[in-house]
Amino acid sequence: MIKNQWYLACFESELKTNTLLRRKIVGEELVIFKNNNAKLSILEDRCCHRNVHLSLGRVQNENLKCGYHGWEFNTEGKCVHIPMSENTQQIPPSACIKSYPFQIKYRAIWVYIGVESKMSEAVIPEMEELNHYPFVFNSHRLKANIKLVAESLFDAQHINHVHRKSIDTLLGKMREPKTDFQIEIKDKSLHGSYLRINDSSIFEKIYFGWQANLETKFSFWFPHSSKLDSYFSKHLHFPERRLVIYEHFYEIEEDEILMIQITTWKNIFRFNPPFAKWFMKRKSDQIVSEDILFLESNKHWHNKKSLNDLIIKGDEPTLSFLQLWNKNFKENYEKLD
Ligand code: FES
Ligand SMILES: [Fe+2]
Repeated sequence: MIKNQWYLACFESELKTNTLLRRKIVGEELVIFKNNNAKLSILEDRCCHRNVHLSLGRVQNENLKCGYHGWEFNTEGKCVHIPMSENTQQIPPSACIKSYPFQIKYRAIWVYIGVESKMSEAVIPEMEELNHYPFVFNSHRLKANIKLVAESLFDAQHINHVHRKSIDTLLGKMREPKTDFQIEIKDKSLHGSYLRINDSSIFEKIYFGWQANLETKFSFWFPHSSKLDSYFSKHLHFPERRLVIYEHFYEIEEDEILMIQITTWKNIFRFNPPFAKWFMKRKSDQIVSEDILFLESNKHWHNKKSLNDLIIKGDEPTLSFLQLWNKNFKENYEKLD
């Protein structure tokens, strides 16, 4: 499990006042709740009385009340009320549960999982578009290898094949057989770009652009996020357009992954926002299910130590990715108990 990171726990829209959500991220059980003062909290999903899930309880006024015997915990994870105790003096000082640091950014709630001393080094990817443009998201569970999932969104070479019926008809074909990738590797992320030949149908060209070459940028932030960003310049009376796909992924437990895909856009189907949302959600679901088929099929072979990937020169983004991954992996990897 890769610790010492900020993980996307949920979107703001998923969490209403007086509700709670349950999540398992890199092996840690969490309960997220908003009390009746709209104060948010992320606690360990374990009641310290009998070690049952707190998420089976409910929000009561300012506290989270365990569903088993009614102990109440405040937003800091401290037990403040025990129904069978006469007064608060009888609450043992050790009656508290772990509370997790979190921050609200890009309309989502990010939780930090790891040791405190490494918190300042952890990065949240820049998802500035989510503050300004409409977006849709979906999440899927899959049995796959985290490294393969991490690389899959910006693996430019698979798009023409796996997504020939979805992304290809949306963004245009990539120049084959060889593409010039411009890649910059930073400490915790990599950023690159390439040109795609715009081979969309006339219908899609009307919406997505007429240029012969479309610039596609990609990014990866260790260990949990990637981005594909396509820009279409102004054409006739159509304003500039952008289509951005983010993917955020983490292990729920060993080899079981949650993959969240977030699709955001600017000026596409701009006269019909509900249709745009419906269209993007449909495309996004299609893209993810196409990926999952291949990602899950690799799992059987991946665990055979004698089988290595055969990386060739055209796999430049993969090589850069491996360089970044291997450098950061060791110091943040933690085996589950
Ligand atoms: S187990 Fe939670 S109150 Fe008893
Ligand atoms: Fe893909």
